[in-house]
Amino acid sequence: MPYAHITGWGMAAPEGVMTNDDLAKIVDTNDQWIRERTGISERRIAGATEFTSTLAVEASIKALKVANVRPTDIDLIICSTSTPEYMFPATACLIQDQLGATKAGAFDLLAACTGFIYALNMGAQAIRSGSIKTALIIGSETLSRFVNWKDRNTCILFGDGAGAFVLQASERPGGVLSAVMHSDGSGGDLLTLPAGGSRFPATESTVHEGLHCIKMDGKEVFRFATRVMASATLEALDAAGLKVEDIKWIVPHQANIRIIEAAARGLKLPMERFVVNLDRYGNTSTASIPIAMVEAIEKGQIKEGEKLVMVGFGAGLTWGALAAEWTGPLPSKGHVRPEQYRRLGRVRSLVRRAIRFIEGLLYRREL
Ligand code: UT7
Repeated sequence: MPYAHITGWGMAAPEGVMTNDDLAKIVDTNDQWIRERTGISERRIAGATEFTSTLAVEASIKALKVANVRPTDIDLIICSTSTPEYMFPATACLIQDQLGATKAGAFDLLAACTGFIYALNMGAQAIRSGSIKTALIIGSETLSRFVNWKDRNTCILFGDGAGAFVLQASERPGGVLSAVMHSDGSGGDLLTLPAGGSRFPATESTVHEGLHCIKMDGKEVFRFATRVMASATLEALDAAGLKVEDIKWIVPHQANIRIIEAAARGLKLPMERFVVNLDRYGNTSTASIPIAMVEAIEKGQIKEGEKLVMVGFGAGLTWGALAAEWTGPLPSKGHVRPEQYRRLGRVRSLVRRAIRFIEGLLYRREL
């Protein structure tokens, strides 16, 4: 049975930075409160031409470059997101088209902030089963488009960004070692974006009542998060036959420094073993774990052969953890330039649209 290795990684963050002081100009809050209660100093906010798919494509191209993998070699694209560009088509299909990943299947996965763990596990399982060889797993969010900028309980927390991993099959042991996924829909109302779905489609009143924005019971989500972070980590370790002492790093969902500190206490580990970057990005939901991973790898924190656990929680309620042994890129030949495929992909997409248009005209004439 092949192993599923994480062989490429990349991240993208919008250039626009919003500091706590910037927020204090629009809602009744202040830098000291936000830093002390959350650990966040600033977050990135997508500009007018940045979208969930464009951030994802930027992160994916970097990941493909690291792995030295062509977009045309990808079998499966999973985009984990709570802020898809449309109800349908899936954002993963927009990414497939922009990358020129001509043979890939593509779908979105919604498990909120736990989504990247779910998606990585799904991609790894598909590789482990032997049905595919290469998967692109993405966590991408433009949460700023759904934040109520008048609600100080939520608007201080969220930011935009994307992270992507390339997963590849190899006979060499390592890579994704285990994963656990959990849910409890009885807590679904604690963190929700009520309108815009089939239950409450957009109407004048849903817009008027602000139902197209994130609503959260912060205290309850906090309580739930502190309960599940340590237990999910231990479960994933147990499933991999590992002990806390065997792992070098915990990469937690970046929601609140106090939640991460509670997890550290629960696991009896020092904070130095936790990868933390929420001070600069805030909570980017499903993108937070891959963004933290990419920064830690690029800084040389996470090294080949080290074992780690990624652990997250979020709306749903969902929570989960994934244990992995870090290996890095597999040996490969040649030098792949994924951005060239992106350019070709754009041309290909235009040609396909033109052909579809002409075929449509001819077909209508035949009727
Ligand atoms: O990905 C999952 C997403 N969600 C989360 O992870 C959220 C988890 N929850 C949290 O991180 C925390 O509950 C929050 C950061 C949202 C809130 O922190 P808290 O320590 O639970 O604050 P609180 O809601 O209990 O509020 C404490 C006080 C209140 O004032 P009083 O009633 O004690 O006078 C609030 O009105 O702080 C006030 N407050 C603020 N003050 C300044 C609440 N928000 C703010 C604010 N600025 N932004």
